[in-house]
Amino acid sequence: MASSVQGVVSRGKGQPVEVTEVLVPDPGPGEALVRIQACGVCHTDLHYKMGGIGDDFPYLLGHEAAGVVEAVGDNVTDVAPGDFVILNWRAVCGQCRACKRGRPWYCFATHNATQKMTLADGTTLSPALGIGAFAEKTLVAAGQCTKVNPAIAPATAGLLGCGVMAGIGAAINTGGVGRGDTVAVIGCGGVGDGAVLGARLAGAKTIIAVDVDDRKLEWAREFGATHTINSRTADAVEGIRELTGGFGADVVVEAIGRPETYKQAFFARDLAGTVVLVGVPTPEMQLDLPLLEVFGRGGSLKSSWYGDCLPSRDFPMLVDLHLDGRLPLEKFVSETIGLGDVEAAFEKMEHGEVLRSVVVF
Ligand code: APR
Ligand code: ZN
Ligand code: ZN
Repeated sequence: MASSVQGVVSRGKGQPVEVTEVLVPDPGPGEALVRIQACGVCHTDLHYKMGGIGDDFPYLLGHEAAGVVEAVGDNVTDVAPGDFVILNWRAVCGQCRACKRGRPWYCFATHNATQKMTLADGTTLSPALGIGAFAEKTLVAAGQCTKVNPAIAPATAGLLGCGVMAGIGAAINTGGVGRGDTVAVIGCGGVGDGAVLGARLAGAKTIIAVDVDDRKLEWAREFGATHTINSRTADAVEGIRELTGGFGADVVVEAIGRPETYKQAFFARDLAGTVVLVGVPTPEMQLDLPLLEVFGRGGSLKSSWYGDCLPSRDFPMLVDLHLDGRLPLEKFVSETIGLGDVEAAFEKMEHGEVLRSVVVF
C-alpha cells in the first residue's frame, strides 16, 4: 500500500512549485521509507525548478533532510524502523574501483530507490538528487540513510546532507586544513560558511572570508572568520596576500563556481598552497591560467565533490561535535517554514536574505 503524502513538486521549467499529493510506495528490497522531519532549501532545488539540471519534470524537490525510518524492505541491515537518519544523495556500491580505492564519493555505480514515487494520477516523479524530501515521507535506498544521534534538532541535522557538509568537507577532507594554517574562503553562502566552520574546527589560525555582500561577511565572522574582504570594493587577491604576510593562504576554498573567482583562488594561494574548488561551474565556463604560474608556484589544485565525505564516518562525527558544543551548525538555520513556503524561500535565497530556510514537519 502506497502512502499518500503532501509534497513540493516542480511541474515545468521556471513554473512556481506547488504542494500536491504524492504517492510513496512501501519499501522494496534494499529500500527505506523515511518520515521526514526537516529539509533545507538549497540552490540545487532552484536549479531543478529552473531546468538547469535536466528535463525530467515533474520533480519532487528537497534533498537536505533528516527524519525517522518508518519501514525497511528485505535485505536491509544497516538501518531499522525508529532510527533517526540524515539522507545522502546516493548509496554507493562498495565494489567498484573508486569504492575499493577508498574514494566512494566517486563511486561509478551509485543508486537510489528502485521503485518510483508518483503523483496521484500515476505520473512518475523524479526525486531531487535521488531524495525528494519536501514531502512528509520519501522512499530512498537504505544506503542513503546514515544513523546519527537523535538529540540534534532535525532542522540542523538535515543541513549536513548537502551544502554544509560540502563546505566543511572541502576544508577538512579535500583541503586538509591543519592547525595553524591560513585559510581563505571565497564566497560565503552555506557552502563557504561550512568551509569557514571546517577550517576553524581543524585549528586554522587565520580564516579570511571573501564575499561581495557585507551581510554574508558578518555571518562568516559568526562562523569563525578572523578577517573579511568585500571584493566589490577591495582586491581579493591583494587583500588575502596582505593578511598572510605577503605569502597567500595555505588553503583557498572557492565556493561560488565562476571563472573570475576560481582565478582569484589560484592567485591567492601560498607557494605550495592548496586550492579547493567546490563551487559548481556551468558547462560553458572555461578557465584560463598562465601555465608558468601553475608550474612556478607548485601546490595543488583540487576539486571537492560533496566535500569528499564518507557519510557513515562524517555525519555521526559532525553531529556529535555539534552536540558537544564545538560546531554551531544551528547558525545556518535562518528560518523554519512550512511546505507551502518553499517558493518564497527561493526568492529570499536569491536575494541573499537567508543562509538556509528549512521546512519542518
Ligand atoms: N565574489 C565574491 N563573492 C561572490 C561573488 C563574487 N564574484 N559572486 C557571488 N558571491 C557570493 C554571494 O554573495 C554568496 O554569498 O557567493 C556566495 C554564494 O553563496 P550561495 O549563492 O548561497 O551558494 P551556496 O549554496 O553556498 O553554494 C555555492 O557551491 O555547491 C555549490 O552549486 C553550488 O556553486 C554553488 C556553490
Ligand atoms: Zn562503487
Ligand atoms: Zn543541496
